[in-house]
Amino acid sequence: MKVTIVGAGAVGASCAEYIAIKNFAQEVVLIDIKEGFAEGKAMDLMQTSSLNGFDTKITGVTNDYTKTANSDVAVITSGIPRKPGMTREELIGINAGIVKTVTNSILEHSPNAKIIIVSNPMDTMAYLVHKSTNLPKNKIIGMGGALDSARFKYRLAEALDCPTSDISGMVIGGHSDVGMVPLASQATRSSINVTKLLSEERLQKVVEDTKVGGATLTKLLGTSAWYAPGAAVSELVKAIALDSKKIFPCSALLEGEYGLNDISIGVPCILGKNGIEKIVEIELSDTEKAKLEESAKGVKKTNGLLE
Ligand SMILES: NC(=O)c1ccc[n+]([C@@H]2O[C@H](COP(=O)([O-])OP(=O)(O)OC[C@H]3O[C@@H](n4cnc5c(N)ncnc54)[C@H](O)[C@@H]3O)[C@@H](O)[C@H]2O)c1
Repeated sequence: MKVTIVGAGAVGASCAEYIAIKNFAQEVVLIDIKEGFAEGKAMDLMQTSSLNGFDTKITGVTNDYTKTANSDVAVITSGIPRKPGMTREELIGINAGIVKTVTNSILEHSPNAKIIIVSNPMDTMAYLVHKSTNLPKNKIIGMGGALDSARFKYRLAEALDCPTSDISGMVIGGHSDVGMVPLASQATRSSINVTKLLSEERLQKVVEDTKVGGATLTKLLGTSAWYAPGAAVSELVKAIALDSKKIFPCSALLEGEYGLNDISIGVPCILGKNGIEKIVEIELSDTEKAKLEESAKGVKKTNGLLE
C-alpha cells in the first residue's frame, strides 16, 4: 500500500502520522508546493518511527509527482483552511483550482489510485473531481462524515458521561455547519437507543454541538482542526488497505440513492479495496429525510458556484 498525501499542512501531516502509527501501509509520500516543507514534515515524522514503533516509510517532496507514481490511494488536503467566522463554502474560489490541478497530476502518475478528498468545501470538491476526471464513482471518496460522526460520538459520550467506545452513531448529509444530519434517532450506547437515555432537549444540544464542531475548534485554534480530521482519513485509508468492508459515511456520487441525483454528499458506504464498494441505503425517519433533502439543496447551491 502506497499512499500519497497532497498538502503537508496541518491535516496532511496528521494523516501521515496516524497512517504510520497504525502500521498498515508500506509507504507514505507527502507532497506540497512550499519548498522543503513536505521534506521537513516527513523527516520529523520519520524520526518518531523508533519511538512510536512503525515501519511505514514516509518521504516528502516539493511538487514532484514522479515520486508519487503507482500510489494506491491519494489523499487531497491541499488548499486553504477556514479562519474563525468563515464557512467552508467561502473557500471554494481558491480550493477548486488547486483540487482540480493536483488531481490531474496525481492521476497522470497513479491512474489506478483511489482519491480521498479532504479540502473544503469537501462535498463540492468531491463533485468537481467526479466531473473533471470521469473516474468510476467508487474511486472518489469524500471525507467528512467519518469526522463528523466521531464528533457526534464525542458529544454523545460527554452527555452520557460514558466512554466513546460505548457509542455508535453516524452523521450523514453535507459536510457543513448547516448541512450535517446527525442521526440522533438511531444512535446507541451499547445497543440502547440514546433517545431512551437523554432528554429531547439534551439530545438536541448534542446535535447542535456536533454540527458546529468544526467552527467551535476554528474559533479556539484560529484555524481549522487537524488531529481528528487526520485520524478520520487514516481510518478510511486503513479500510481500503485491509479491504475491511467497514461502513463509514462518505461523500459519494449519488445516482438515485436516497432519492438524490448528480450530487456528492455524505451517505453510509462500505469501504474496501475498490474504494466505495457499496452505498448503503438505511431507513430514515421523515424528519431525517427532509433534513437530508434540505442539506442536498445547500450542497447543490455550492456546486453551482463551480461554474
Ligand atoms: N473534510 C474535512 O473533514 C476537513 C477537516 C479539516 C480540514 N479540512 C480542509 O483541509 C484543507 C487543509 O487544511 P489544513 O489545516 O491542513 O491547511 P494548511 O494550510 O495547514 O495546509 C494546506 C497545505 O496545502 C498546501 N498547498 C496549497 N496548494 C497546493 C498545491 N497546489 N499543491 C500541493 N500543496 C498545496 C499548502 O502549502 C499547505 O501546506 C482545508 O481546505 C481545510 O478546510 C477538511
